[in-house]
Amino acid sequence: MRKVVWKICILSISLLLPYHAQAVDNPPNTPSPIWNRYWMGVSYYPEQWTPERWEEDFRKMHELGFNIVRMGEFAWSSFESAPGKFHFDWMDKAIESAQRHGISVVLGTPTAAVPPWLHQQHPDVLGANERGAFNYGGRKGFSIDSPAMQAAAERIVTALSRHYGKNPAVIGWQISNEPGFPFMNFDQHALSAFRIWLNRRYGTIDQLNRARGGTFWSNNYGTWNEIEFPLNTAEGGWRPGSRLDYRRFFSDSFIRWLKFEGDILRRNTRNQFIFTNWPDTRWSVDTFQAASVIDFSAWDNYSAMPGPGDYHSQFYAGMNHDLSRCSHPNQRFMIAEQVTQAPTNSDPRAVRLQTYIDFAHGSSGTIFFEWRPPITGNEQGYVSVLQLDGSYGPSESQFQQMHSEFDQLGPLLANAVTDSDLGMIFSYDNQWDQGFWDGNTFRGESGFDIEFQRFYNGLKRLRRNIDVVSPEAPLNRYRMLVVPGLQMISDEFAGRLMSYVKQGGILVVNPKTGTREADGHLRELLAPGVFADAAGIRIPSKGILRNVTDTYQITFSPDDHGFTVATTMEGIELHGADVLATFHGRGLEGKPAITLNHFGKGFMVYLGGDSRDQHFHDKLFSLLADHFQIPPLLNVPEGVEVVSRKGNQHEYLFLLNLTGDTQSIDLPKSYDEMISRKQISGNLTLPPFDVAVLRL
Ligand code: GAL
Repeated sequence: MRKVVWKICILSISLLLPYHAQAVDNPPNTPSPIWNRYWMGVSYYPEQWTPERWEEDFRKMHELGFNIVRMGEFAWSSFESAPGKFHFDWMDKAIESAQRHGISVVLGTPTAAVPPWLHQQHPDVLGANERGAFNYGGRKGFSIDSPAMQAAAERIVTALSRHYGKNPAVIGWQISNEPGFPFMNFDQHALSAFRIWLNRRYGTIDQLNRARGGTFWSNNYGTWNEIEFPLNTAEGGWRPGSRLDYRRFFSDSFIRWLKFEGDILRRNTRNQFIFTNWPDTRWSVDTFQAASVIDFSAWDNYSAMPGPGDYHSQFYAGMNHDLSRCSHPNQRFMIAEQVTQAPTNSDPRAVRLQTYIDFAHGSSGTIFFEWRPPITGNEQGYVSVLQLDGSYGPSESQFQQMHSEFDQLGPLLANAVTDSDLGMIFSYDNQWDQGFWDGNTFRGESGFDIEFQRFYNGLKRLRRNIDVVSPEAPLNRYRMLVVPGLQMISDEFAGRLMSYVKQGGILVVNPKTGTREADGHLRELLAPGVFADAAGIRIPSKGILRNVTDTYQITFSPDDHGFTVATTMEGIELHGADVLATFHGRGLEGKPAITLNHFGKGFMVYLGGDSRDQHFHDKLFSLLADHFQIPPLLNVPEGVEVVSRKGNQHEYLFLLNLTGDTQSIDLPKSYDEMISRKQISGNLTLPPFDVAVLRL
């Protein structure tokens, strides 16, 4: 039995070999019938309602302006009531009804919720967390390494795709649901697969021991089978390398799963796109790497709606949009789920504004979650388009307005692209190594993700488009690159970043950058490691801060108010760099906190401290914009986001008022405003949570 499992695991790992999706898609700027509009739709679960209701539901969806519906992703037991006993007649009818009302269909493969009969026959189709195997109930948590799960998934995905793969009403497929969430699987199948993965990565056990520093605390392994999951250790926890390996393995495993399902779909379908819905683009699966097995990325936008919070919180969605867009060469992405109503303490107009934020950042569609509030199940009464009594909810007028606006704007921007000369590099390895959201709470107010977001929000100060790219991306197109949290870096990547600076780029980094190798080993160099010369500084090691009762601050000029330091104050020695900001507080008064160095034709900005105050990052980037004379796309007031997209003939500028205040914008010339279809000049008044689209 054990041998069989190993063979299957080896087979599954061989599926990880390089692969290129045969995308349905066309390159940017070429027309494609699928992409000639903005897709606005809803999730719908016909299996939860009587067939009499479907016709009425699709009629109303059409009435509100929805042109796409997502169905089926949790309907495995309705599709297959016993092994190989399929029932597609109900979905056939639902699809026909949608088609009658002019609504296109996206089907989800239903692997995210296994039916009880499958679990009964093969309890190992469900995975395990640190407390042990999952009991039946709930959803997701399936074991992607279980041979029984693989066989059952192959059967249902094959049957579904053979049945619907050539149905013109079905335009695409979503693979499973929110892959990689929950963030772990600790069952025996996964353990075998993990050991094989490590073997493939390191080749020999000695190599693994060297990479992990096995001599430290006597952790040298003799055989692969001695290796366990990095869980529940005695004092000291697991060495960083083992946790990072687990995360890399987990990500590779899910990409392998997406390819496994995607290959079945590709074999049996024609002219239907394939994507998956990331719960957030930056969690447990590397979205950049996964791009090779799907046609485009989509993510579930549950970010806070505009209104109740500070306007900066809207940049969370923008960041995820920009990463999704940059994950695929054709820049295509979609929103697979989005909330249908603004919270009661917000403004109803937030629903429309949120959708314009998607559109402005390059999304090809927004699918709202969901059409009807379920009356049973774990999400009873979930806030939906309809209310419990079947009447339209409070967003009715918002949907109707978007319908008429997107009918007009969608085709204009159908194959538009986003040009950016500001970039951020998102390194999954560094995020996983430093720890990310664990599914319950954010790690305090710091941590890789939160810090990355603060830098993104600050960079928005430049009022230009931003790309969020992988470390492998070409760099020379960027005027400025911001790379927070880049502690581990390969020599090759460090070399590319250095030549980027030498050739004229501006590189912005923060504490501990460049101090470790790609495998996590500390470099035997003074910080900032490989970047010491480019940054023009050295940071000799210092004792740990003790008895810190004072508040320490960073200031940009002597008469400026300071920003409170969060966790880090490095003792920077200047070796040619200029000082942009200084520390204040006992023992560090006047010492450099942020430096700027001219290197080759470019510049390197180094932050030796951090702050949880968003205004700190805003201030830094406002100063850099002035210093390097980087002009905004348009000079808009704080709280108004400006983003541009280039269509076939024209470029469009989106002005998004993220605040509850009326904003006034001075226009340097006259423009065609595409929503009101009026020519405007002089001063533009943008009401709260409203948007304007100017044609350049
Ligand atoms: C998403 C999930 C949906 C639904 C929704 C409720 O994460 O994909 O199926 O559960 O949350 O907020």
